[in-house]
Amino acid sequence: MKLAVLLAALIAAAIHAQTSGPTMKAIVAHQWDGPEVLKVEEVPLPQPKENEILIKSFAAGVNSFDGTLLSGKYAKVFGTQLPWIPGYDVAGTVEKVGANVKKFKTGDPVYAFISIPNGGGYAEYALAKENQAALKPATLTFAEAAGVPSVALTAWQSVVDKANVQPGQTVLVQGASGGVGMFAIPIAKIRGARVLATASTANQDFLKQLGADVAIDYKTQKFEDIAKDVDVVVDGVGGETLKRSYPIVKKGGILVGLVGRVDQAELDKYGIRGVSLEAEYNGDQLAEIGKLIDAKKVKVVVAETFPLADAAKALAKANTGHARGKIVLKVRDEPK
Ligand SMILES: NC(=O)c1ccc[n+]([C@@H]2O[C@H](COP(=O)([O-])OP(=O)(O)OC[C@H]3O[C@@H](n4cnc5c(N)ncnc54)[C@H](OP(=O)(O)O)[C@@H]3O)[C@@H](O)[C@H]2O)c1
Repeated sequence: MKLAVLLAALIAAAIHAQTSGPTMKAIVAHQWDGPEVLKVEEVPLPQPKENEILIKSFAAGVNSFDGTLLSGKYAKVFGTQLPWIPGYDVAGTVEKVGANVKKFKTGDPVYAFISIPNGGGYAEYALAKENQAALKPATLTFAEAAGVPSVALTAWQSVVDKANVQPGQTVLVQGASGGVGMFAIPIAKIRGARVLATASTANQDFLKQLGADVAIDYKTQKFEDIAKDVDVVVDGVGGETLKRSYPIVKKGGILVGLVGRVDQAELDKYGIRGVSLEAEYNGDQLAEIGKLIDAKKVKVVVAETFPLADAAKALAKANTGHARGKIVLKVRDEPK
């Protein structure tokens, strides 16, 4: 009997040794809910497919959208599945490349916006498709770089792709002292626009530092008293702020909504265009944004960093919607 038990244990150990490969630490959700369900776990190290790179992560960006997905309310819409590793923004070095990858080689410093629903950013290693990544801006630390991809692409796709902002136009950025605003303000300025931006009292100076011509305090001022006949609104707030934004756009102008859906009847009523943006990964645009950062035309501000193990705290902070700049997870020490 004892021999049989010993044999069974030996066979189990042999099978385990054959099937268990290298592992990594990751933050995993086994149920949809708030940040408190996130736990540190040892999971299999992912392996890159033909068109993917495996990134050894030094830092991961944290977005309130991660919390929106973790709630599970939009699992069907976005295709997220449990167990789920959150995180779509990663900065690190290329650890391994898939057979068809041409742009990157092992050791390259990169940053990436990983596609939804895959995620997997809150981990020691993450997979990205080749066209989701770009070389990391040389002037940034990995922690700073991790704060860039999804929000900078959102700003670029709003200001450049959708609104096609032209010199001399007026742009209002609603909710401008967080991740998206940090990029939307300077990108609109680079396009030659006059930029108005909203945030609370504590962030008025910060809006100016980001390059806003006019800072509007939503706690003490009505933005429609100051922003009139604007060519473009980029709305990162939604709700009442979005509703009140239609009438201030001049005829033929455009409202780019980042939160909820823009209302076609309201657009028609005011003779304006509108789009509900869904930011998309784009390695080429990330490379362009990197050039602006390295040329010091765009600043990157990290509000706070947390160790990977404190991902739940970091996400709770991001979920408040009041970070100044970006919340970032430090996955390992920056290389010397
Ligand atoms: N559709 C897309 O593809 C897409 C992509 C990225 C982000 N988003 C969404 O866009 C929103 C903004 O993203 P983010 O990363 O920039 O968020 P964030 O970093 O949390 O920043 C939110 C900003 O909104 C300001 N704010 C809060 N309430 C406001 C109000 N009533 N009026 C004006 N400003 C207000 C905050 O300033 P104070 O702290 O001073 O209040 C802060 O500057 C989020 O809801 C996010 O989920 C959508």
